[in-house]
Amino acid sequence: MGSIWKMLRINILVFAVLFSLACSSVRATVSYNNKAIIINGKRRILISGSIHYPRSTPEMWPDLIQKAKDGGLDVIQTYVFWNGHEPSPGKYNFEGRFDLVKFIKLVHQAGLYVHLRIGPYVCAEWNFGGFPVWLKYVPEVEFRTDNQPFKVAMRRFVEKIVNMMKSEKLFEPQGGPIIMSQIENEYGPVEWEIGAPGKAYSAWAAKMAVGLETGVPWIMCKQDTAPDPIIDTCNGFYCEGFHPNKPYKPKMWTEAWTGWYTQFGGPVPHRPAEDLAFAVARFVQNNGSFFNYYMYHGGTNFGRNAAGLFVATSYDYDAPIDEYGLLNEPKWGHLRDLHKAIKQSEPALISSYPTVTRLGKNQEIHVFRSKSGACAAFLSNYDPTYSAKLTFRNMQYNLPPWSISILPDCKTAVYNTARISSKSSQAKMVPVTTGLRWQSYSEETPSADDKDTLTMEGLWEQINVTRDSSDYLWYLTEVNIASNEGFLKSGGWPLLTVMSAGHALHVFINGHLSGTVSGSLNNPKLTYSGKVNLRAGVNKLSLLSVAVGLPNIGLHYERWNTGILGPVTLKGLNEGTRDLSRQKWSYKAGLKGESLSLDTVGGSSSVEWVEGSLLAQKQPLTWYKTTFSAPQGNDPLGLDMISMGKGEIWINGQSIGRHWPAYIAKGSCGDCNYAGTFTEKKCQRNCSQPSQRWYHVPRSWLKPSGNLLVVFEEWGGDPTKISLVKRIV
Ligand SMILES: *[C@@H]1O[C@H](CO)[C@@H](O)[C@H](O)[C@H]1NC(C)=O
Ligand SMILES: *[C@@H]1O[C@H](CO)[C@@H](O)[C@H](O)[C@H]1NC(C)=O
Ligand SMILES: *[C@@H]1O[C@H](CO)[C@@H](O)[C@H](O)[C@H]1NC(C)=O
Repeated sequence: MGSIWKMLRINILVFAVLFSLACSSVRATVSYNNKAIIINGKRRILISGSIHYPRSTPEMWPDLIQKAKDGGLDVIQTYVFWNGHEPSPGKYNFEGRFDLVKFIKLVHQAGLYVHLRIGPYVCAEWNFGGFPVWLKYVPEVEFRTDNQPFKVAMRRFVEKIVNMMKSEKLFEPQGGPIIMSQIENEYGPVEWEIGAPGKAYSAWAAKMAVGLETGVPWIMCKQDTAPDPIIDTCNGFYCEGFHPNKPYKPKMWTEAWTGWYTQFGGPVPHRPAEDLAFAVARFVQNNGSFFNYYMYHGGTNFGRNAAGLFVATSYDYDAPIDEYGLLNEPKWGHLRDLHKAIKQSEPALISSYPTVTRLGKNQEIHVFRSKSGACAAFLSNYDPTYSAKLTFRNMQYNLPPWSISILPDCKTAVYNTARISSKSSQAKMVPVTTGLRWQSYSEETPSADDKDTLTMEGLWEQINVTRDSSDYLWYLTEVNIASNEGFLKSGGWPLLTVMSAGHALHVFINGHLSGTVSGSLNNPKLTYSGKVNLRAGVNKLSLLSVAVGLPNIGLHYERWNTGILGPVTLKGLNEGTRDLSRQKWSYKAGLKGESLSLDTVGGSSSVEWVEGSLLAQKQPLTWYKTTFSAPQGNDPLGLDMISMGKGEIWINGQSIGRHWPAYIAKGSCGDCNYAGTFTEKKCQRNCSQPSQRWYHVPRSWLKPSGNLLVVFEEWGGDPTKISLVKRIV
């Protein structure tokens, strides 16, 4: 070849490269057809995983994203957490764990796409489903329906997020990573329930979202009425039978549940990797072209972000990356291998619908062929008990029960969903710091004439008073006992009954703990009923009502109540039963220790702590503090709280969440067979053990030395047995 030709060829090459660059910056678009999401003109099989940015720390993000990429993901999916971003109206927070832009840019740098689920209703086992508590007190507001004040607030937030993404050039047509968004969330069941106003609201939400012109498709999940051009998508343990509501939309699975969330009082859920891989392969062989693992990394419900009912601080979810950021094997590796097999099959998968051959009741073969000759086959055995031998193109293939083999070239079975080649990991919690020197401070029952109490007639709903600024609300009243009361002589104490809407309650008579009750998973409501030691004259009745997160789901959950709604009665007096519900009550929101900021260095020096032989042990309402040095190395850290009851933990002023190791898991934890239809109750673990014993301490929250660890204990515990542990595999 002459040099002129060479030059010319280089020029043509350069021109072609420049031309395609120019095109991609101008015409880069994301669209869809019935087969798949189309990015820059190319249909894609997209593999996605949920990582919620506030459930880890910015220091953890790069590693989590890299592990997702190494696991074969194309997309990271996240919700946007309104109550984290707008804690009070018009006051925004995009810092630290809520630095959404930074998170998206890190995903972009890693070369992955983003699916942004703006909601702003997110459910997510997140406090109040992501809605700020102030929204409940906007006059006339009704959540998630055709209600003007709600729609105004929702539009304002969605616009805020979309404009922020646009100004940072984060949508794909702008050169950014966001290829899709979501408006609302799992609205189908609500719309079905409420009818016409629900339909009107859906139509409004869809129009509002599409009108924001992001240049990328919107989806609505679990809502088969999603208006065009919005794609309706599936959430569940299995989605192979799902069909979008129009023949020109692709079949997408927004939440392939990798496990389930832990609740205080419940066992630890587990979903076998074989069954998860089987569900995904089955979805893909049935035309599915986008699937997202919910969760790929579940993380931690730091602070008070866990939702009622009783959602634990750990949001591990049995995800492929565990709460602490370590690989959960064999799940992570088994899915990575699945993704390789799917990617090898992609040219055939995106080009055709499968030809399906049924071989008996429980066996099928799906074959995809492209015009250019690519061929991929999925051989499946749905039988939960028996293996099967399948003959395909004169070759024999053995399939274990409940499994699918993938043949990316229609010849070689490179992968079977029930054959795991990755090693299992066994994570261990190894104590690194024990024998900490603790000091204690006892929280007293407040008095009705303290300056920050409110006095009103009757019983008030808890969140109405606290606005969720604290889990705690004191209900204080007085009980007058005449000196001629019969029980004073007979010794038969009167019976106090307190009815509460949730979630836990401590009863104090004249400053002494008289009893504690808490609600359960199936019923947050509780009743205290106990004989109380009253004396002649004025008795102080102090009830500490404790909320464990606001609801995140349910029809009009903004109307759900918490706290002592009554009646409160005293039985066994001369007059019979006295109803205390309508008398004068004083209210104090939060604990004294909270208002003094005992979790911080400055605040903790404002009270007198005791130690040594004076250290409070097994006493209710006790604050504990100690300091410690950061252990060497990079292993993730946690606190072993086995010796404690219930409360909250802070490190250097940051809340690592609620602890409740005294809540022992009830449920059935039998054998676990991967084969057969999975539900969240199958394969549970750790029955009769604390639902959550260990609490994640992010490394980045520690200094080399002098770290302040503060624990508030409601029930009574032994802090000397708390240890700092490292998690090793
Ligand atoms: C795939 O989609 C096509 C077109 O909608 C449909 O005819 C076919 O039955 C689907 N195949 C499977 C296995 O779901
Ligand atoms: C909530 O608080 C308001 C005053 O702020 C009061 O009028 C109302 O009765 C309270 N509602 C409940 C259910 O306690
Ligand atoms: C479940 O119990 C086992 C054995 O005690 C323990 O090793 C494991 O860490 C526990 N899992 C959780 C999530 O608490």
